[in-house]
Amino acid sequence: MSRLHVIDHPLITHKLSIMRNKKTGSKDFRELLEEIAMLMGYELTRDLPLEDVTIDTPLSKMRAKMISGKKLAIVPILRAGLGMVDGLQSLIPVAKVGHIGLYRDPNTHLPVEYYCKLPPDINERIVILVDPMLATGGSAVDSLELLKKRGCKQIRFMCLVAAPEGVEKVQSAHPDVDIYTAALDDCLNDEAYIVPGLGDAGDRIFGTL
Ligand code: PRP
Ligand code: URA
Repeated sequence: MSRLHVIDHPLITHKLSIMRNKKTGSKDFRELLEEIAMLMGYELTRDLPLEDVTIDTPLSKMRAKMISGKKLAIVPILRAGLGMVDGLQSLIPVAKVGHIGLYRDPNTHLPVEYYCKLPPDINERIVILVDPMLATGGSAVDSLELLKKRGCKQIRFMCLVAAPEGVEKVQSAHPDVDIYTAALDDCLNDEAYIVPGLGDAGDRIFGTL
């Protein structure tokens, strides 16, 4: 079974509470999302494997440790996942970025794919799939399937707010994928929005309310 990591550091929880407030405008919402993504990225990368390399310091040779293997890939689920990319890239500037475009059909709440562009060597990378909202879990499950079809074996899913329904769906479909979230909320409403949540993340990021 995959693990659910609730990263409830006080700084993250405080920033998330500002984002949840309906009075918070797009500019602040975007900035806070970027900051939280960076703070969460720090925790999500805590266990990255290191390898020994030999370097020359100004004084001597030494065996130093650096992150091993191919570097990472960050894959946002469009649109809202875009809001988390810059924060993560400021931590991991060498990461390649892929994009998966999905939107939820307003009637069925099922994800509809409209775009997919991934780095050619994505199967050799540790992938961080990002989307602020994990609601029914449909978008995350479909995106994870897409990544696995492309050969990805090491994937972590990072969101901001998760509903128990979404966590259960991802964990049962993809038991190898750990989930990192800043908050686990109560439930979904009849329109499959997370309650209490923060509303429609894409609309709040891009001002399309
Ligand atoms: C939102 C959100 C997720 C999805 C979550 O995107 O950003 O991608 O819904 O819901 P699910 O877990 O029930 O699939 P939306 O479809 O509204 O598209 P957008 O990001 O373009 O606004
Ligand atoms: N998508 C959002 O943006 N918010 C929700 O609460 C659920 C899905």
